[in-house]
Amino acid sequence: MSGERLTCRRADFPILKSGEHEPPLIYLDSGATTQKPQEVIDTLSDFYQRDNANIHRAVYALGERSTARYETARAVVARFINAPSSNEIIFTRGTTESINLVASSMSTQIGAGDEILITHLEHHANIVPWQLLCQRVGATLRVLPIDERGDLCLDRLDDLVTHKTKLFAFSAISNALGTVNDVQALCDYARSKGVMTLIDGAQAIAHTPVDVQALGCDFYVFSGHKLYGPTGIGILYGREALLNELPPYQGGGDMIDEVFFEGSTYKPVPSRFEAGTPNIAGAIGLSAAIEYVQRLGLQSINEYENELIKYGVEALSEVPNLRIIGTPKHRASAISFVIDGAHSFDVGTLLDGYQVAVRVGHHCAQPIMRHFGVTATTRASIAVYNQRSDFDHLVKSLFRVIKLLA
Ligand code: ALA
Repeated sequence: MSGERLTCRRADFPILKSGEHEPPLIYLDSGATTQKPQEVIDTLSDFYQRDNANIHRAVYALGERSTARYETARAVVARFINAPSSNEIIFTRGTTESINLVASSMSTQIGAGDEILITHLEHHANIVPWQLLCQRVGATLRVLPIDERGDLCLDRLDDLVTHKTKLFAFSAISNALGTVNDVQALCDYARSKGVMTLIDGAQAIAHTPVDVQALGCDFYVFSGHKLYGPTGIGILYGREALLNELPPYQGGGDMIDEVFFEGSTYKPVPSRFEAGTPNIAGAIGLSAAIEYVQRLGLQSINEYENELIKYGVEALSEVPNLRIIGTPKHRASAISFVIDGAHSFDVGTLLDGYQVAVRVGHHCAQPIMRHFGVTATTRASIAVYNQRSDFDHLVKSLFRVIKLLA
């Protein structure tokens, strides 16, 4: 199927099938979490039904099967983002934990007087862990501003990146606005200045192909649940040599080499960063989600969604007193908007009455809201199961909502 022109995949998702919700659900909140295709649900159930055992510990056949499925999942993730080695794939709870892991362990690489650069587009998960690191080691956080459209002010990079800058952490796609950043250009720039890079791919991973070797990034992080996989599973990709230089984030079983009361030694990656029993089923479910996405083809998904998001912007522009927040040059996956005179929480609640699920609020991106002088927006975000008629339904429902709130 990969390479063919994609059509709406609603039928792959049981929760969206008619009969499940009446009238059928118009799900426009995939930025928060995606729905799961049947094969991911089946894979999770199959694992628990046939192969459940702890990994890396058991000598019996069941444990070997479960370990093999978990490690195969790691290899699937590595191939998906073109990581040179499966050792560079760490299973975490999600994007937030992946960033916290790096920020915590980087305290050996970043110290007093150093600087970390982020952007004004970041989700709180790519702001607060760096603030905590800066407070701990005496480093300073710098922020690359955005313009009135919600695009990065790239002309400010030369002022902000100095010999003190150690790391540049940025999102590939903004969850609040849908701004698509030119991650290749940002990585190339950072590398030319000797600055390490971390890409927050949470909002990008289901929408654009990723090749970490081509990007040349040091870290790439994402969550399984935004990629049609289960919640509670995520990925930290990091360069193997760099990861092995970092101290463990958590201590416990499976990450040690030898333990004495006087001190312990640790395994290399990936075990080094996977203390305790991990989310085994989650990792296996994530690999099923990746196989699903690979079958559709990320390039085809990207083309399908680009066309759909353009349609969504045009459709929403028909609604009176509706202002789209952020008009980036390149947009993917999300459209944020406000309706003059209506609070977004009221808009979202009333839309729910028409079976439309959207996210409202600050989207864990308060600095962006402040930049645009709003406290909250309504956000419609898409995935492969959305189609033009979803936006038509949203627009029709918004007309009704405006009447109710008038
Ligand atoms: N970060 C997720 C969102 O943007 C939850 O909705």
